[in-house]
Amino acid sequence: MSKFDFAPMPDAKGYFGEFGGQLIPPELKAIMDEIDLAYEEIRQQPAFQQELATLFNDYVGRPSPLYHAKRLSAKLGGAQIYLKREDLNHTGAHKINHCLGEALLAKYMGKTKVIAETGAGQHGVALATACALVGIPCEIHMGQVDIEKEHPNVSKMKILGCKLVPVTQGTATLKDAVDSAFVEYLKDPVNYLYAIGSVVGPHPFPKMVRDFQSIIGQEAREQFQAKTGKLPDYITACVGGGSNAIGLFTAFLADQSVKIVGVEPAGMGLDTDKHSATLTLGKPGEIHGMKCYVLADDTGQPMAVHSIASGLDYPGVGPQHSYLKELGRVQYETATDEECLTAFMTLSQVEGIIPALESSHAVAWAMRTAPQLSPEQSILINVSGRGDKDTDYVISKLGL
Ligand SMILES: Cc1ncc(COP(=O)(O)O)c(C=O)c1O
Repeated sequence: MSKFDFAPMPDAKGYFGEFGGQLIPPELKAIMDEIDLAYEEIRQQPAFQQELATLFNDYVGRPSPLYHAKRLSAKLGGAQIYLKREDLNHTGAHKINHCLGEALLAKYMGKTKVIAETGAGQHGVALATACALVGIPCEIHMGQVDIEKEHPNVSKMKILGCKLVPVTQGTATLKDAVDSAFVEYLKDPVNYLYAIGSVVGPHPFPKMVRDFQSIIGQEAREQFQAKTGKLPDYITACVGGGSNAIGLFTAFLADQSVKIVGVEPAGMGLDTDKHSATLTLGKPGEIHGMKCYVLADDTGQPMAVHSIASGLDYPGVGPQHSYLKELGRVQYETATDEECLTAFMTLSQVEGIIPALESSHAVAWAMRTAPQLSPEQSILINVSGRGDKDTDYVISKLGL
């Protein structure tokens, strides 16, 4: 078995329990089936596995380190905190892991353009990077609100040569960017590939993106055992669509001693309408070609959601997360914008590591939980990305 072989989920039709599937018109279903077939073909080829492994090592800089945050652990006065440093990857986040896979697949399938949405700009930068490397034109759709907030990533996408399409409809954030990218994709789905930026959308994307991201947990599990001789008591990651979380969780799902916690954005509070806590307060529904938990209004329309972290404000969530919640294997918790900002500043000033606002949600949950545990216990946090893109925003928000 190679390190790119994974758990036998979803089933052949793309279902994780009752979640997932291909809730799309038949013409599009045929194209998704072709993508699935090509993916299943390519991922078993030793040449593809070798190419991806070499890119992970020599281009991304994998394995990303596992770091024992001793000063933060001492400050919190409880569990030992370990950080999986996806922030140190080339392009600054975990998104490059699946973008390289998707770009190589696009090349293999002879696609002429790769399209995607982006929220925080991390998926956009990572995809523009992978497309530059592979030599395929790339088009990124991004909400106008996020364009203004995530300026450094916008500049990078332009420099990397992708076409950036500003989206002004709706709340001009992540969901609207997905809708807009989808409209462009439907103009020529035979020749274009919609490289979805998380473990969402119709089958095979939740499976494929998970598979490419699973390297995070495979490395972290080995690294943790090598450092401590045991497994962590808790592992945690932020959940937007859920790709960095499922990337960490997959290798630990069978380890019953490991408690797994996904952290959603509670925004300005769960008792307001300014949050994006889909698994916590949503219900099973449909969005973007899949069945999953959805934050929807009474008519079933996805709600306008909010998070201080542009990469987390999505009213749906990956179908596998929806299933893991129902199974009770993963516990989904929340952190507010305020807790996120405190975690952002604390990790920066206590460890010299500036995390992305998205990742800061997981740090916030760990900061709340560690003091209740003993120093013999441990929490492994996935630092999904670095906070360079967020510094100007945080400075103005905190009036520093
Ligand atoms: C650094 C970082 N972490 C997390 C996320 C959320 O995505 P996901 O839940 O798919 O990991 C994003 C999205 O842009 C991100 O940029």
